[in-house]
Amino acid sequence: MTDRKILVASNRGPVSFVPDDGGELQPRRGAGGLVTALTGAVQATGGLWVASAMSSHDRAVATSTPSGRLDVIVDDSKHAIRLLSVEPEEYDRFYNGVSNHLLWFLHHALWDLPVTPSFDHDTRRDWEAYRMVNQVFGKALAEEIDRSPADVLIQDYHLSLAPAVLRSLAPQARIAYFHHIPFAGTPQFSLVPSWMRRELVIGLLGADLLGFQSARWGDAFLAACRGVEGTTVDARRRTVRWEDRVVHVGTYPISVDAASIQQLAESPEVRAKRARLEERLNGRRMLLRVDRTEPSKNILRGFEAFAAFLRAYPGWRSRVTFLALLNPSRQRVPEYRAYVARCREEVDRINEEFGEPGWQPIELSIHDDFEEVVAAYCLYDALLVNSILDGMNLVCKEGPLVNDRHGVLLLSRTTGAFDELGRHAVPVAPLDIVATGDALNGALRMPPAERARRAAALRRVAAASTPADWVERQLRDLDRAAAPEA
Ligand code: G6P
Repeated sequence: MTDRKILVASNRGPVSFVPDDGGELQPRRGAGGLVTALTGAVQATGGLWVASAMSSHDRAVATSTPSGRLDVIVDDSKHAIRLLSVEPEEYDRFYNGVSNHLLWFLHHALWDLPVTPSFDHDTRRDWEAYRMVNQVFGKALAEEIDRSPADVLIQDYHLSLAPAVLRSLAPQARIAYFHHIPFAGTPQFSLVPSWMRRELVIGLLGADLLGFQSARWGDAFLAACRGVEGTTVDARRRTVRWEDRVVHVGTYPISVDAASIQQLAESPEVRAKRARLEERLNGRRMLLRVDRTEPSKNILRGFEAFAAFLRAYPGWRSRVTFLALLNPSRQRVPEYRAYVARCREEVDRINEEFGEPGWQPIELSIHDDFEEVVAAYCLYDALLVNSILDGMNLVCKEGPLVNDRHGVLLLSRTTGAFDELGRHAVPVAPLDIVATGDALNGALRMPPAERARRAAALRRVAAASTPADWVERQLRDLDRAAAPEA
């Protein structure tokens, strides 16, 4: 680990604020291994995490101190954070307009091209807000570096322009950026107006090290650089020369925190939920999916594939339940609301067509309950991860860590996770509903010895490294990339 301070920058920070019963704002810690790993690195080096004030409650806290810097204690752990606050309308344009809409859809190939998107005046207005928020981040990071030298770890597509802003203000800064999602392929990226493409690429090239979940996404970024004048790409070394610097492109597949999920699976709360779920299943096999309500997860085609499976293999009717545990997400984006409505309609239609007394083919639940998710992970016979495009996908790593039934993983070839887990999974072509239905039949009929062998291999791979290793690998490579002769 570096002896320099670590500054993390991300849109969503490790802590958010919510009012308690008395109306007093209380900090709440974000879930997940990534927050734990990055928080650990910040704490160990006496660093700081810079994040957006995302809600009115966060903004109230942020504006209560002149710098937005706070030391917050949550669950006995101290978080040094700096919350950056902008006007709500500007934030909405930055977060919903550009990050969640334009960039998320671009990088996940979600555009309905005959109809959307159109780059109009409103897009330009949104883009100005995106630029402005990235400048606010770049400036805040430069101020922090000025106070004491630090390695900067910038997280994700919300902050694509921040590396170049920071570089212009602090030329000696040591900057790593990590892109958690896919990077748009050439046909899609070439449809973006050239000025915006240039800003995105050059924004990222402000870093010394650019990390991706899979070499595929790094390749797509290198291809995007080739379309921007003034850059020189060395595909073999995976570097890009821009101005007088060399930027390194690396692959750092993210891991899950195996120990904490396994511990949670043993908790009385999860055991109780597991017992209730087993009762509900009543001896039936379980197909499981766990996702945010996110169009790129391909939830709708997953249901259609299940219907194709019940049609093609009627012997399975009333013997399998498809449990879909969805976590509500981004309901301010109209496409997401419409998508959830279509998913619900499809589930109703399939349950109507195939349901029998005492058997509802699909059980859909849309709420946030991670204990229930872990209980379901323990019990699935098959886990469906059929994302259209997914930077990594963590569900397919979490499930096998705690599953007790030698459950089979059906995994889309177009997830980053496929690089590591693909050979132990049943591969899925995400748009092919018939083949996905057939793959499900194959998974449920797989001989027990093969199921056991694959499940053990999945578990081994998923537990092989920790989120802390993921941070460590980037810091090590940043050290090399930022060295003067790199
Ligand atoms: C997913 C992606 C992350 C992204 C996050 C943003 O988890 O994999 O890369 O940062 O969504 O979600 P949010 O709820 O903060 O918009």
